[in-house]
Amino acid sequence: MRKNTDRRTVINRLLVIWTAITSIPFISAIIYFIYPPSKKFVGSKVLGSVDTLQPNTGRVVQLGEQPVIVITLDRGETIAYGANCTHLGCVVGFRKERGDIYCACHGSSFDLQGHPVSGPAQRPLEKIPVKIENDQVIIYTV
Ligand code: FES
Repeated sequence: MRKNTDRRTVINRLLVIWTAITSIPFISAIIYFIYPPSKKFVGSKVLGSVDTLQPNTGRVVQLGEQPVIVITLDRGETIAYGANCTHLGCVVGFRKERGDIYCACHGSSFDLQGHPVSGPAQRPLEKIPVKIENDQVIIYTV
């Protein structure tokens, strides 16, 4: 009787260990889905001299492997955000006529501070630093 109980205990423990080990990929996938890793913006990029950037324009450039939307405002200031929409990751664009940032995939829009204004996106766009060195406008990572 005791030998059967010991064998059952050992088998139960092995089953618990096997279940724990085989659950790791599923648990990892759930954690990755809930807390996706932040996108990596790597390096810096020279956008051009201050004089060549047209006011009230926007464009998407690559910084490392990530798209960045760069907008030059009416007053000449340049701002930049990660261009992946915070809803499902489509690349956003600048709507000159409305003065906002728009995602055509599901209709999210963001103000020029990167905050969501309408549509399904709930989180702000990631701000990318902009500096001016030797009259050159540069986006960079910190
Ligand atoms: S991916 Fe931009 S609104 Fe859905």
